[in-house]
Amino acid sequence: NKKEECTEFISDFLCRYKNFGKTTAEHIDSLQSFEIRDSDIFLVTYPKSGTIWTQQIIISICELDGGLNEYPNNWEQMPWLEYTDVHENYSLRPSPRLFSSHLTPAIMPLGLKDKKAKIIYVMRNPKDNMISYYHFSSVYSDMETPTSFEQFFEQYLTGNGSLWFDHIREWHSKKDQYNILFLTYEDMILVRSVTKICSFLGKNLSEAAVEQVVEKATFKTMKKDKKANYEFVPKEMISGNFMRKGNIGDWKNIFTVAQSQRVDQLLQEKISDLSLKFIWE
Ligand code: A3P
Repeated sequence: NKKEECTEFISDFLCRYKNFGKTTAEHIDSLQSFEIRDSDIFLVTYPKSGTIWTQQIIISICELDGGLNEYPNNWEQMPWLEYTDVHENYSLRPSPRLFSSHLTPAIMPLGLKDKKAKIIYVMRNPKDNMISYYHFSSVYSDMETPTSFEQFFEQYLTGNGSLWFDHIREWHSKKDQYNILFLTYEDMILVRSVTKICSFLGKNLSEAAVEQVVEKATFKTMKKDKKANYEFVPKEMISGNFMRKGNIGDWKNIFTVAQSQRVDQLLQEKISDLSLKFIWE
């Protein structure tokens, strides 16, 4: 039952922390019939996996490839399909349209199947994902501030089901239905990733243009880029930085050995059957 699935998913995930996600079950349901164009580009992630980083790469590529309608910032340029805070009729946007999403395949627009449009999926080591999520939930007003890392760790892994694992499983197991490119945060060596993304999107950028994209997407440049650093989000909503540290392996400063082993075990139990090679291993 679609409706039930959506509502359950919403309460488990998008509204997991006091309405995180700014959406409604009705809106999610309505996305099933959202009209997809072949030229649409979707970025899909589990939150805190490098979404705004990849947004910057995709937007810069498209800009250099022949232009995009200009929007005040990356959020509006590449809005999350599921959030209802941007009140815009996307069917009026010129192509190529760029969208972001944290949704799972079951509740994405049906029109994405049969390899219409392009999807870029970015995944991050769940240990670093968890650290990033932990810090973010302390500064985002719509989320409950965790009382301790231990409490957050338990909630992330067991409360409401282990959603990171579900997200990875769902997208990887359905990959044949979509035109999808999988990338990892850890493998985001910029020149190589930009080249990979260009080739997937069919964009033929010169070496100099690729260099320009790389420069725009470094942590240092992005942090100063007012369109890309998400400091345009009102302080009442987010009282800290989206561009926090941008490191690989920050989990080593926080996890106990037992916590790390527990995640390793879950990776083994829950997704080792998927033919995934984890770059962070
Ligand atoms: P940290 O909290 O570990 O620093 P999302 O965009 O999915 O919310 O993910 C946010 C994470 O991506 C943050 O991780 C942020 O610092 C990191 N990030 C954003 N831009 C980056 C960049 N240009 N290079 C490396 N990491 C980046």
